[in-house]
Amino acid sequence: MNIPRFRPTTSLREAVTFLQSFLPGGLDPAEQFAAGLSDGALAGNPVVLAPSARIALYWLLKSLGIGPGDHVILQAFNFPAVPAAIRATGAEVGFLDVGAGTFEADWSALESVIGDRTKAVIATHLYGNPVDLARVKRICDSKGVILIEDCAQAIGAMAGRRKVGTVGEGAFFSLGPTKNLTLLGGGAVSTSDSIPSAKIRDMASAHRSVGLGASIKLAAKAAAMGVATNPMVFSMTLMPILRFFERRGTDLVHEVMQEPAGPLTGIENARMPSRQMAAVGVAQLCRLERMNRARVRNGWYLRSRLQEVQDLIVCPMRTGSVFMSFPVLHPQREALALQLRRRGIDTDFGFMADCSTIEVDESPESPCPNAERTAREILHLPVYPFLKKRQMDRIADAVRDALQDLS
Ligand SMILES: Cc1ncc(COP(=O)(O)O)c(C=O)c1O
Repeated sequence: MNIPRFRPTTSLREAVTFLQSFLPGGLDPAEQFAAGLSDGALAGNPVVLAPSARIALYWLLKSLGIGPGDHVILQAFNFPAVPAAIRATGAEVGFLDVGAGTFEADWSALESVIGDRTKAVIATHLYGNPVDLARVKRICDSKGVILIEDCAQAIGAMAGRRKVGTVGEGAFFSLGPTKNLTLLGGGAVSTSDSIPSAKIRDMASAHRSVGLGASIKLAAKAAAMGVATNPMVFSMTLMPILRFFERRGTDLVHEVMQEPAGPLTGIENARMPSRQMAAVGVAQLCRLERMNRARVRNGWYLRSRLQEVQDLIVCPMRTGSVFMSFPVLHPQREALALQLRRRGIDTDFGFMADCSTIEVDESPESPCPNAERTAREILHLPVYPFLKKRQMDRIADAVRDALQDLS
């Protein structure tokens, strides 16, 4: 049986709560979800739901009065919608390169790039791996700059003894269908005592919710994703299709899921998660910890099997990571992906980019060479909660085997 690159964590339990939310009365699922996320993962910090993580960040920056003339710093190897959200406020973006093979900002350069106009620094807990927040917060505090945490991929991760999202002045979260906690779509923002959440609540209240028809469509899409990534169905349907397109040099799933990079549009008309979507989130919260534990178990095991492999750079995860993903770097990642698919293991290049070269008129050499290399060489191996030890062994054996064939 083949191993798909991804499996959604939504299941029958979420389907039941989705249907139950049609019944009149009862608690408001959106309030329930926000309170559950706040208490369970954010030390009681207030949470406001949002149409997406990028809009959550946009609101956060606006609520802080950040706009034209200001400067926000973040890592160049990033999800393109994040710098786009900063630019939508009128503020400028400053990029930090990532360390070589670390996937994380090279924080040793942070002090030197913070200038008079710098108002905020964004720490991205990429792939569920927590940033060294104590160090970054110390630098931000000494420079009088706000720290914002991008927790889009890291809900439940720990930075030292603290949950990610509770160290910075504010944090934002993505709740899309591929995340470790999902409402089938949407995002959220949380704030510490130093940022009043009332302004953000006002901004949120100006938006309508996703309609009933659109909510049902999202649920149907999640259900279809669940069926298509069932290993048996995947092996008989999607994998042969992927192999067919692979011969033409295309990764069909990646093409379908990739969104074009560009300015952030449609902010005013963006819809808030619906009651039904929030109900899915309430069910998801109940097993967030269990699912994260399974990711962590799989992630550390795969790491132990792959960290000594020649020519392969394995993400140096910290204790406290929730292994949203298992990225590796290899100079021949296209050939490696092909070899792995032949061995029944589906992988993905992911959707992060060297953002320092996006929205630049010409195509200059990247000012962030490590980000450029990371974007060119990254490959994600499956690590999601439903994989068992024997499947992790199969993945590790396939990688070793494939690399031998490539060498
Ligand atoms: C690290 C990171 N930040 C921000 C985002 C944006 O999230 P959203 O699509 O909810 O706006 C993503 C999306 O995957 C992400 O991976």
